[in-house]
Amino acid sequence: MNEQLSVQHLLGIKDLTKEDIELIFQTADNFKDVINRPIKKVPSLRDITIANIFFENSTRTKLSFELAERRLSADVVNFAASASSVSKGETLVDTVNNILAMKVDMVVMRHPRPGAALFLARHIKANVINAGDGTHEHPTQALLDAYSIREKFGRVEGVKVVIVGDILHSRVALSNILCLQKLGAEVMVCGPVTLIPKYMQSLGVKVEYNLKKALAWCDVANMLRIQLERQDIRYFPTLREYSMMYGLNRQLLDSLNKAITIMHPGPINRGVEITSDVADSEHSIILNQVENGVAIRMAVLFLLAQSRGI
Ligand code: CP
Repeated sequence: MNEQLSVQHLLGIKDLTKEDIELIFQTADNFKDVINRPIKKVPSLRDITIANIFFENSTRTKLSFELAERRLSADVVNFAASASSVSKGETLVDTVNNILAMKVDMVVMRHPRPGAALFLARHIKANVINAGDGTHEHPTQALLDAYSIREKFGRVEGVKVVIVGDILHSRVALSNILCLQKLGAEVMVCGPVTLIPKYMQSLGVKVEYNLKKALAWCDVANMLRIQLERQDIRYFPTLREYSMMYGLNRQLLDSLNKAITIMHPGPINRGVEITSDVADSEHSIILNQVENGVAIRMAVLFLLAQSRGI
């Protein structure tokens, strides 16, 4: 087992090896023990300053990174674009260079443009962690999702995972596909034909347009939100119709001859892609995903900090 990551930045799952992912999981196992202890803090990142720069809204990712950073004893600064000089015309590099001039070591960034994290990594010396770049990648979400599957099944290899919904606009879908495939899972995508990009089959994933057939195939269903904020045209007639065709409800779940595990990266639109009785059911590991997110982000921060010689 490697003891260091092969990368200095976490820009996407695409750049990670299977060994990198296994190292992150093993490190997260240790940090999960730490965060379940009465004293949840370790001094691993003392004297490291981390800036969380969010140009898009976030609840889970931002809170989870901040908690992970504080549990590792890092110094943390938060930056929300809506309350900054970006609204006065400042560029991304100028904004970040100003933050770095304040001696920041690591930058966690969410940005609406695909490739923004890569652009930043090419222009600054700090380690960059992509917390979601447009419709491209959301690597820590995929890592925590795969980690939660590993926790539930004891392995990821051979587990059948269907990702359901708005694949076209989802950074979670692409990162999940890449991560699960690297770990040997079987992956299917399911949704309306208009929301499944043509290149999916070239990634080696199965494509299914019928939700009931997809659920009958899978061990795990990862239900995605319809990303109305990214949709420039209408991809389906109404949300009600979408929900009738692709929403997961108790009746559908009970009609399967087996139990499946339900996941959702959040935020959930209850009653659209998933009903409350399913989201809150014994089959759901949605809150386990959130809990595991902190341990995974601690592992990523800790391992990237090692590349700084800490
Ligand atoms: N899963 C996820 O990225 O949620 P947030 O948008 O709330 O961070």
